[in-house]
Amino acid sequence: MKSSSLFSPYALGSFVLRNRIVLPPMTRNRADDRFVPTPRMAVYYKQRAEAGLMVSEGAAISPSGVAYPRVPGLWTDEQVEGWKPVTEAVHASGGVFFAQLWHVGRVSHSLTQPGGAQPVSASAVPVVDELIMTRDGRIPFETPRELTTDEVRRVVDDYAVAARNAIAAGFDGIELHGANGYLVDQFLNDNVNRRTDRYGGGVSERLRFLIEVIEALCAEVGAERVGVRLSPSGTWMQCADSDKLKLYGEVVRSLDKVGLSYLHLVEPTIAGSMTVEAAPDSIPSSHFRSIYSGTLIVSGDHTLESATQALADGRTDLVGFGRPFISNPDLPLRLATGAPLAESDRATYYTDGDEGYIDYPTLEELDVPKAQ
Ligand SMILES: Cc1cc2nc3c(=O)[nH]c(=O)nc-3n(C[C@H](O)[C@H](O)[C@H](O)COP(=O)(O)O)c2cc1C
Repeated sequence: MKSSSLFSPYALGSFVLRNRIVLPPMTRNRADDRFVPTPRMAVYYKQRAEAGLMVSEGAAISPSGVAYPRVPGLWTDEQVEGWKPVTEAVHASGGVFFAQLWHVGRVSHSLTQPGGAQPVSASAVPVVDELIMTRDGRIPFETPRELTTDEVRRVVDDYAVAARNAIAAGFDGIELHGANGYLVDQFLNDNVNRRTDRYGGGVSERLRFLIEVIEALCAEVGAERVGVRLSPSGTWMQCADSDKLKLYGEVVRSLDKVGLSYLHLVEPTIAGSMTVEAAPDSIPSSHFRSIYSGTLIVSGDHTLESATQALADGRTDLVGFGRPFISNPDLPLRLATGAPLAESDRATYYTDGDEGYIDYPTLEELDVPKAQ
C-alpha cells in the first residue's frame, strides 16, 4: 500500500499531534460507585497514548446527567482528583487528551437519578421498546420530565463548571457530546423536541441549546480547547429529525463560525457502539467537509485503507478508531507495520475489572514470553 498520511503529525491549534489517529470516546464503566476514576483507568489510557489525540469516555457533567453505573463524572472535587493520575499518565507518554462532556437526558432511569427523580429531557418523550441498564438489570425506559426554561440555563451552567473541572483535572480540552441520542441530540431533533419556548420550534430554536452550551464552554476554557461531536445520520436512542440535511447543515454552519478546536462526526454506519446499515437518508460525512472549514474528525468502521483514502481525498483531517483500539492498545504501531489486529470482546466492554480492559497485549508483549 502507498504511504499513508495517517502517521504524519498534525497541528491541532497549539497542540502538535504525533499522528492523525484518534482514540474516540468510549464508555467502559471502570470508575467507582461515586463516579470517581479508578487507577486502572490511568493504565488503560496510558496504554493507548500513542494515538495523536485521545478523547475520554463520556464524563457526566452532573448527577442528573448519568445513564449507567460506574461512569466517571466531572462535577465533584473527588472526581477531579481521581482524573489527575489519569491525565498525568497520558501526558507522561506525550499524549493529547480531551474530556468528553456528557449529559444523557432521557437516556436514564429514576433508579439512577439522584433522589429517585424522573430523568429530564427537552420534552416528555420517552425512548420506547428499548431497555436501559440499571442497578436492577435491564428494564424499560420511563417518560422523562421536560426541563423548564430556567432549568435549561442551569444545565448550560453545569456544562461550564464541568469544563472548568476538566481543565483543573489536567485535560487539554473538552469535547461536547452532541451525538448518539443524548441530551444535546434530544434538543436538536424534532421527534423529541416538542418545546414551545425559545429552545423549541424551528431549527434555530432547537439549535439554541447547543449554541448556548458552546458559548458557555468557550467562555470558560477558550474555543481552541473545545471540540464537538455530532452524529448527523445516527438514529441511536431514537433521535431523528424530519429534515436532517437542513438541521445538521445549520448546526455545522453555526459551529463553523466559532473557531472550535474540531468537529467530530460519527459515520452513518454507526449506531452507538455498533455497526449497522446506513439509513437511506443518511448524510455522508464528506457533505460536511464542504461546509466546515476547521479540523474535522470522522469515526466509525475505519480501517487503515479507508482512513488513508479519506485523508488523501481531503474528506477529513483526523480519523477515529474505536473498537480496534479496545483490543489493540498499540494500534498506531500495528497499523503502521501491517501487524494483525486482535478482535475486541463485546462481553467485557462495560463490565468492571481488568479483564477485557487493560489485559489486551501489545505486539511487544506477544513476542516476549512472560516469565514463568
Ligand atoms: C464500548 C464503547 C463505548 C462507547 N462510548 C461512547 C461514548 O462514551 N461517547 C461517544 O460519543 N461514543 C461512544 N462510543 C462510540 C465510539 O466513539 C465510536 O463512534 C464507535 O465505536 C464507532 O467507531 P469504530 O467503528 O471505530 O468502533 C462507544 C463505542 C464503544 C464500542
